[in-house]
Parts: sequence; structure tokens; C-alpha cells
Amino acid sequence: MAIERTFSILKPDATRRNLTGKINAIFEENGLKIIGQRRIWMSQAQAKAFYAVHAARPFYNDLVEFMVSGPVVVQVLEGENAVAKHRDLMGATNPANAAEGTVRKLYAESIEANSVHGSDSAENAANEIAYFFAGCDLVG
Ligand code: CMP
Repeated sequence: MAIERTFSILKPDATRRNLTGKINAIFEENGLKIIGQRRIWMSQAQAKAFYAVHAARPFYNDLVEFMVSGPVVVQVLEGENAVAKHRDLMGATNPANAAEGTVRKLYAESIEANSVHGSDSAENAANEIAYFFAGCDLVG
């Protein structure tokens, strides 16, 4: 299996409830190494551009407002099969459908305040990582 990198965001509902350590522990205990991490408060422009792929969706404006409602932790995770592994650990987008033990089942408040974002492909991971991190920020 290949060593991959994926991009992750611990969302404002997670920082508000001081859950970043608990969520990171789930990632680390399952073989994902945090090779870059920064706590930031996204601007409207950053959030809009990051989620531009969803611009036509009815939830886009609310999603952007939520993502700028508090600090987030942007992070790069590395490990075997990291993209799929991270998605498995996150669970389904809607916490009502998330499997037992996943981050969203444990912690998400709603489909919007769902605690964590993760890249859905290696290609998107590369783009999302480059949006927030320089190569020299990533230390494996
Ligand atoms: P995320 O993985 O960050 O990608 C887009 C986000 O939109 C998603 O997680 C959800 O938090 C949010 N969202 C809000 N409403 C919906 C919805 N109805 N369907 C899918 N995603 C939604």
C-alpha cells in the first residue's frame, strides 16, 4: 500500500468544544502522522475559495458562514492509504449515518457542524494541501 498525504480541517464546532486533541488521537492511533498543522481563523474569501466546488449547492452560504464562525485547525496527515483511511475515521458526512467509533459519530453536532473535513481523493488532497501549506511546512 502506498504512503499518501491527505488534507484535514478540524472545524469550528471542534475547536469551540476543545476537541482537537481527542480527534487527533484518533488519527494518530490509527497510523496517520500529523506532518503539518496550523490553527487559523479563515477569512470569508479563503472559505469561499476553498469550498468553491460547492458554490452552486443550497448549503454553500451557510457552510461558508459556519467555517468562518471560529478558529479551525488545518492539517496534513501522512500514512498508508491516508485519503481513504482518514475518510473511514471521519465517518459519513451526515453524523446520523456515521458508523460507530468514527469522529463524526462521536462528536459531530449536525451535517454542517460535522467536526472535520477530509479530502475525497489524492488529487484533491494535493490541491487542498497546497492551498494552506508550503512544502517546507511539512515535516514527516
Ligand atoms: P465537508 O467534507 O467539509 O465538505 C462540504 C461540507 O458541506 C460538508 O463537509 C458538510 O459539513 C457541509 N454540508 C452542509 N450541508 C450539507 C448537505 N446537505 N450535504 C452535504 N454537505 C453539507
